Amino acid sequence: MKRIAILLAVLLLLSACGIETAPEASAAASVPESFGAEAPASVETAAVTEEETTAEEPAAEPAEPAAEAEPEAELEQEAETEQAETVEETAQTPVIVVYFSRMGNTDFPEDVDAVSSASLVDSNGELKGNAQLLAEWMADEAGCETWEITTSEKYPADYDETTDVAKEEQNEDARPALSAQMEGLDGIETVYLVYPNWWGDLPMALYSFFDEYDFAGKTICVSVTHGGSGFSGGISTIQTLEPDAQVIEGLSLRDSSVPDAEEEVRQLVRDTNG
Ligand SMILES: Cc1cc2nc3c(=O)[nH]c(=O)nc-3n(C[C@H](O)[C@H](O)[C@H](O)COP(=O)(O)O)c2cc1C
Repeated sequence: MKRIAILLAVLLLLSACGIETAPEASAAASVPESFGAEAPASVETAAVTEEETTAEEPAAEPAEPAAEAEPEAELEQEAETEQAETVEETAQTPVIVVYFSRMGNTDFPEDVDAVSSASLVDSNGELKGNAQLLAEWMADEAGCETWEITTSEKYPADYDETTDVAKEEQNEDARPALSAQMEGLDGIETVYLVYPNWWGDLPMALYSFFDEYDFAGKTICVSVTHGGSGFSGGISTIQTLEPDAQVIEGLSLRDSSVPDAEEEVRQLVRDTNG
């Protein structure tokens, strides 16, 4: 009887162990073999790539390679898009402001001032040409460089003498030699051009400039400063000189109104750039 009782107790003990240990053992075996190695990796990848996908994807299809490939593919695509945007951003300065002004083309005496020399503007204590000042505002607004068209031979400091020389050049259909070469025009898409009206026309140095460079396929946004004549047909002249460029009208500003034109000039750039 005692033996039977012991036997029964042993049997009961064994059966109790069997029922409790079997499920634990099967769970332990299945985790490392099928999900164990991949599941955490998927979770990590997903967590790094896109937080939104972490909760669902690893649990739903942990063993499928596609489940892991998806976030990677998304990553690659994201990287490519980012790179494309960066390239676009870098290339987003295909703009230059080109100008001609009496100021940079004249050897003025050191004591010259805005009163003794007509057409110069006092900009915060610094003397500037009208077209130069416009050009600088434009470049600042567009975040681009300026290029000044300069002639090898300077114009006389005296205003009247300059007008005489300019008239002579016009009569002769002269092409004054330019003193420097503009580089990097290939990457430029839009040129903001500013110049003063000289004798109802472009200063002859601009004819030299357009002879030298080809603006085919580019946009030239033309602005003029003047003493009352406006463009005087300057837009169509430039279109004739650059038939394959898109020539558009910018601002026509009287010299006396230039000092107050900053906002108008910046607005032109905002309206036309990009
Ligand atoms: C040689 C010369 C010729 C000019 N001819 C004209 C003209 O025909 N019509 C006009 O309205 N202004 C004329 N002007 C005035 C200038 O166009 C005007 O003052 C301009 O704003 C000057 O710009 P800048 O300071 O950048 O040179 C002439 C000025 C010069 C120096």
